Amino acid sequence: MLKKVFQKLANMLGYEVYKMHPKGTDAGNFVNVDLDKFHVLPKADVTYAYDLLYTQHNCDFMTDPKFIESYNLGKATDVNQTVLKNYDIYWRIHVLCWAANYAKNLPGDFVDCGVNTGIFSRAVINYINFNATGKTYYLLDTFSGLDPTYSSEAEMAQELNQKYTKYKDTLYDQVKDTFKNFNVNIIKGAVPETLTQVKAQQVAYLSVDMNCVQPEADTLNYFWDKMAPGGIIILDDYGNVTNEQKKAHDEFARSKGVEVLSLPTCQGIIIKPVNL
Ligand SMILES: C[S@@+](CC[C@H](N)C(=O)[O-])C[C@H]1O[C@@H](n2cnc3c(N)ncnc32)[C@H](O)[C@@H]1O
Repeated sequence: MLKKVFQKLANMLGYEVYKMHPKGTDAGNFVNVDLDKFHVLPKADVTYAYDLLYTQHNCDFMTDPKFIESYNLGKATDVNQTVLKNYDIYWRIHVLCWAANYAKNLPGDFVDCGVNTGIFSRAVINYINFNATGKTYYLLDTFSGLDPTYSSEAEMAQELNQKYTKYKDTLYDQVKDTFKNFNVNIIKGAVPETLTQVKAQQVAYLSVDMNCVQPEADTLNYFWDKMAPGGIIILDDYGNVTNEQKKAHDEFARSKGVEVLSLPTCQGIIIKPVNL
């Protein structure tokens, strides 16, 4: 009741109530909830409200036909809607497309560690017309979820991991089919074991998204010397609330004398300095 009255009142004043899940509250239930714990944003001014990111900032990329086409192609790889059902990650994909467009002019190949159905790579390939770059895109994944040898019990228990394992009998073939017309090298198996199968002399673009600390740390350490000067690394889970991956990413960055740029999308960015 209170929820309805509050929402109606807010709507009458031209505001929309967003559920932002403050700690310790049931954001779906406004009864007995301290409304001071909720942010109320004027809907007419909100330009973006997806993937836990709410802003009034400009997001013109949402009207770029090439970007939207690329986003939709990426999203369409999630054929069983295990990840993006009623969910969208436009701004993350915008960051990846931007990074890829930058990296296409650097020497070296592209690598994704953590592919699942290939949402990221399919979007990027379309956005920059990847085949025309003459580069190879290496796609590394177990294609059967996190590997217990390299992941903690807590990581293995993540709800998301059930999604990555659900279609494990068909996922690899599905990904091969998705990328059959592109210059990709799909490497099936557990990182770090498979890293040496990446035959790239140099890497211009590295996307890291395995939802587990150790394989991500191993990936960063393995590829750092191979990163082209100015090469870009995108860490998909840098801002995850658990902070476990972030700690490892920061520790890696510190060891190399660089810093991670923290983005409101949850991503982190590292650029290898040209003089290293
Ligand atoms: C968040 S999903 C990646 C989503 C992907 N970036 C996309 O474009 O849709 C995480 C993936 O990491 C993979 N993964 C987790 N641990 C791994 C490991 N040690 N080696 C290889 N792949 C791993 C999982 O199988 C899963 O597909």
